Amino acid sequence: MRALLAAAAAALGLTSLAAHAVHAATPGAPRLLSQTGLYASPGRVDARHLAYAPQYPLWTDGAAKSRWLHLPAGATAASIASIDGRDEDAWVFPVGTKAWKEFRFQGRKVETRLLWKTGPSSWIFASYAWNEAQTDAVLVPESGAAEAAEVAPGRGHSIPSRTDCRTCHGEGRQTELLGFNALQLSPDRDPGALHGEPWRPGMTGLGDLVARGLLRGARRDLLTRPPRIQAEQPTTRSALGYLAANCASCHRGDRPLPGLDLDFRHTSRIAREADEPGLRTTLGRPSLFQPPGLSSSLRLAPGQPDRSALLQRMASRRPASQMPPLGSALVDEAAVTHLRQWIAALPMTPSH
Ligand code: HEC
Ligand code: HEC
Repeated sequence: MRALLAAAAAALGLTSLAAHAVHAATPGAPRLLSQTGLYASPGRVDARHLAYAPQYPLWTDGAAKSRWLHLPAGATAASIASIDGRDEDAWVFPVGTKAWKEFRFQGRKVETRLLWKTGPSSWIFASYAWNEAQTDAVLVPESGAAEAAEVAPGRGHSIPSRTDCRTCHGEGRQTELLGFNALQLSPDRDPGALHGEPWRPGMTGLGDLVARGLLRGARRDLLTRPPRIQAEQPTTRSALGYLAANCASCHRGDRPLPGLDLDFRHTSRIAREADEPGLRTTLGRPSLFQPPGLSSSLRLAPGQPDRSALLQRMASRRPASQMPPLGSALVDEAAVTHLRQWIAALPMTPSH
């Protein structure tokens, strides 16, 4: 497994970069979660942080998650620094921004991850493992932690290494928040989103950011024409949304994996279903992957789930074939079922 993760990082050109940057950044991460500013008092999250829930969550072996964002003070002590939203697909956060994500399995807190912007192009990545008494969590070494919780008989949840964090969230200036962006916070929320989390009172969405002046430079019709996956059928919309959250951190048009031309990232420039990269770079396209018992496959074979490499790889947790290659130990069965039905119902065109 370790070799595979290294291979994935190497494919992304991250191995040497990450080792270098992590070394420089880690001393800044406090040793205890309670020292990171998440809590106002023991066990009570600071009410000034923005709680939020992305409409398309990442699958992490069924973990329940909570997320918060902290924006630093603005020019005057009473104000809050705002996010530069001019590029809808790449918001720029003020230095001092922090984001936390708490993971729970069977009701117990297991880890809390932190992303902290410390300079114009530097971010600290950290993860904290919760203690038995659930009173605080301790910084996990750069290499991560295996078997932090049992997620199924004999299967453990591993806390990712810092290299893994960067494989998904990007490096340096390109570091991205993947759940706090225009599509994820859109008021045009997908009712069919897989594992969609309930929107609780007090959570922050795009409308709140605009109303509070926390997002500057965004287009004027952002709220009347909010970000949305372009798809006519609800099942296509939720399938593409799922792939955008779970796959586009590595498979993206602006930073493609060499030679792959595979893209699941929705951007604000996409206006029609046919332009959605999740269809454009997969439908009817030959795949290098060979599903068991078949001589060839397509990335997405309309009407033929068993010949569709993207589904076969999602449905696998064998190290050589599983997608995503890191971040989960269990197949997302609900997503596999949904995508299987979606692909089976896609019309076959004569060329397939
Ligand atoms: C497999 C890809 C992947 C890996 C590995 C990964 N993340 Fe994430 N992370 C995501 C995605 C996608 C989201 C947004 C969706 C969600 O929160 O469910 C996210 C959300 C977050 C958030 C909340 C802020 C945000 O981006 O919305 C934090 C904090 C975070 N991750 C930190 C980390 C740290 C630290 C590590 C390494 C210990 C890590 N992540 C590893 C994909 C990944
Ligand atoms: C952490 C990075 C990462 C994430 C996230 C990720 N992949 Fe991949 N993917 C890779 C790498 C690296 C390769 C190339 C090596 C290989 O084929 O194993 C790849 C290859 C593929 C291929 C083979 C393309 C071909 O033409 O043969 C498919 C299909 C694929 N991924 C689908 C997915 C799907 C679907 C998801 C989300 C459920 C996903 N990937 C998430 C890193 C990732």
